[in-house]
Amino acid sequence: MQKLADEQRERLSLLTIDVGDENSIAAAAQATQLLTPRLHLLINTIGLLHDAQGLKPERKLADVNLADLQRGFTVNAFAPILIAKHFTGLLIHDQRAVFVSLSARVGSIGDNRLGGWYGYRAGKAAQNQLVHTLAVEMARRAPNLVCALLHPGTVDTDLSKPFQSAVAREKLFNVDRACEQLLQVIDGLNREHSGGFFGWDGAAIPW
Ligand SMILES: NC(=O)c1ccc[n+]([C@@H]2O[C@H](COP(=O)([O-])OP(=O)(O)OC[C@H]3O[C@@H](n4cnc5c(N)ncnc54)[C@H](OP(=O)(O)O)[C@@H]3O)[C@@H](O)[C@H]2O)c1
Repeated sequence: MQKLADEQRERLSLLTIDVGDENSIAAAAQATQLLTPRLHLLINTIGLLHDAQGLKPERKLADVNLADLQRGFTVNAFAPILIAKHFTGLLIHDQRAVFVSLSARVGSIGDNRLGGWYGYRAGKAAQNQLVHTLAVEMARRAPNLVCALLHPGTVDTDLSKPFQSAVAREKLFNVDRACEQLLQVIDGLNREHSGGFFGWDGAAIPW
């Protein structure tokens, strides 16, 4: 990524952010403001399912613990709304702008038949409610800003690696394909879609 940024200085700037620290989000927003007076698209791709510190999706109730729930919620639930809080100043203007956050279908309560993954499911469900609430407020205050939640499908990344054996090959997207699909959905989003939760194919996902 750094190599690309060095090659494309005019088009790509890298900023470091730790969403566990709201000041770091605020500092990234301020640094962005020095680079550009307004944004037309903000995609939050930050998420957490497992990590090297031992966080992993719970298989049963006895696996649930407060520390992991809090760690997961910080990233999956609270990060998107705090990013929105600090960046909406750049997204609110007289042209169309889009704020999307990558959620996950497993965050759908209506679609939950398998159970398990308590913290990740709940973190994404909370993200959905927070971004939906943001969309309601923005519809009043900033009608040019569309806010939505997207499920990217199962994508071949570090996040899905430990679980890919259960996924049919044709349902595992490479990163390029996933990005193209999501950008196509984003292109089609307008005011009526604001506050919605959509899959990689553009279809609405039940809450
Ligand atoms: N891959 C899938 O199959 C799949 C399916 C459904 C939904 N999603 C969602 O899609 C999004 C992208 O997932 P992915 O597959 O690209 O996952 P990934 O490869 O694990 O990437 C997750 C990203 O989140 C960042 N991150 C984690 N904790 C952070 C923190 N405290 N502060 C700042 N950044 C942090 C990571 O940064 P570092 O690299 O610096 O740690 C990384 O860039 C996530 O929201 C995920 O939940 C993915």
